Amino acid sequence: MKAIELTKYGAPEFLQMNEVEKPSPKDNEILIKIHASSVSSGDARMRRADPFIIRLIFGFKRPRKPILGVVVAGEIEAIGESVSNYKIGDQVFGSSGMNFGAHAEYVSVPKGAVLALKPGNISYEEAAAIPFGATASMHFLRIANIQKGQKVLIYGASGALGTMAVQLAKNYGAEITAVCSTANVELMKSLGADHVIDYTQEDFTRNGKKYDVVFDTIGKSSLRKALKSLSDNGHLLLASAGIGTMIGGSIRSIFIKKKIVSGVIKETVKDMNFFKQLIEKGSLKAVIDRTYPLEQIVEAHAYVDKGHKKGNVIIAMN
Ligand SMILES: NC(=O)c1ccc[n+]([C@@H]2O[C@H](COP(=O)([O-])OP(=O)(O)OC[C@H]3O[C@@H](n4cnc5c(N)ncnc54)[C@H](OP(=O)(O)O)[C@@H]3O)[C@@H](O)[C@H]2O)c1
Repeated sequence: MKAIELTKYGAPEFLQMNEVEKPSPKDNEILIKIHASSVSSGDARMRRADPFIIRLIFGFKRPRKPILGVVVAGEIEAIGESVSNYKIGDQVFGSSGMNFGAHAEYVSVPKGAVLALKPGNISYEEAAAIPFGATASMHFLRIANIQKGQKVLIYGASGALGTMAVQLAKNYGAEITAVCSTANVELMKSLGADHVIDYTQEDFTRNGKKYDVVFDTIGKSSLRKALKSLSDNGHLLLASAGIGTMIGGSIRSIFIKKKIVSGVIKETVKDMNFFKQLIEKGSLKAVIDRTYPLEQIVEAHAYVDKGHKKGNVIIAMN
C-alpha cells in the first residue's frame, strides 16, 4: 500500500511516499481502508518534534512509527476474531491515537480505538474534519463545566479547535465571543458566534468585559491579561500551553479562585458518538480550508505550518 513515512524530524520535505506492507489486523484489531484523513497542527508538531520531548517519547531521530497521521475516516475492510463491536463494511471516523499510521491507504487499530460510525449525512472528507478539533475542544469545555448562559470567549476561533469549540459551546447554550482576524469574521457568525472580535482591530483583554470561560486554543494570548478578563470563578482553558505555562498556571491556580486548565487531552469513544449525534442533527459542521491528495502531503504540511488555516486541512485518498 502507499504510505507517507517521515525520514527524520524537521521540514515537510522529510515526508516521503513509499510502498509499504499493508497491515493485517491482529485478533483484537480492525483494518480500516482510509478514505480521508487530515494534517492537523498536531501532525505538523509531531513532524517537527516540537516540543523536544516528542523525541524522547516517540524516537530520537525519527519516530519509531514513521507513518504519521491520527485522524481516520474510512471503511472497515477486515476484523480480528475477537472483534464484535464492528463489522466489515462499517463506515467509521475517529482517531488512531498513539498508533498513528493514518497517512496511508490502510491502518490497523485496536477494537477499542476512539471511533464512531460515520454519520450518513456527511462525506469522508467532512468526517475527517471533526475528530482532532472536536475531541480536544470538548475535553477542555467539559472541565469548565460548560453550560447554558455562560459567557465563553474563544481565542483562535478560526482554527481546527476553535471552529469546533464555537459550535460545541453554542450547542450547550453558551453565549459565544469568537476572536479571529477580519477574514474569518463571517465564518464565525455562520458557526453561531454571538459576538466576534477582530484581533487585528481590538484587544479583547482591554474591552473591560468579563467571561466565565476564556478558551485560548492556540496559545497566543497573554496569560496575565487573559486572567483579568475572567470572572471570579472563571476558567482559563489553555489548549496549547508549553511546560513552563503549565507549571506556572498550576502554581498560580493555588492562590486564586480562577482556574487555569492545561495539559494533554483524552479522546473518548463516548465523545465521538456525541459528535455523531450532533452532526446528524446538523448542529456540528465540518470546516475545511483545503483538501490535498496523499501524494501532496508535503504541500499540505507546509500550508499547516503557516498557522493560518481555517478549520482543517484534509487528505483525500482515491
Ligand atoms: N492539549 C492537547 O492535548 C492538545 C490537543 C490538540 C491540539 N492541541 C494544540 O492546540 C493548538 C491549536 O490547534 P489548531 O489545530 O486549532 O490550530 P490551527 O488550526 O493551526 O490554528 C490556526 C488558526 O489560528 C488563527 N490564528 C493565528 N494567529 C492568531 C492570533 N495571533 N490570534 C488569533 N488567532 C490566530 C488563524 O487565524 P488567522 O489566519 O485569522 O490569524 C488560524 O485560523 C495547537 O498548538 C495544538 O498543538 C493541544
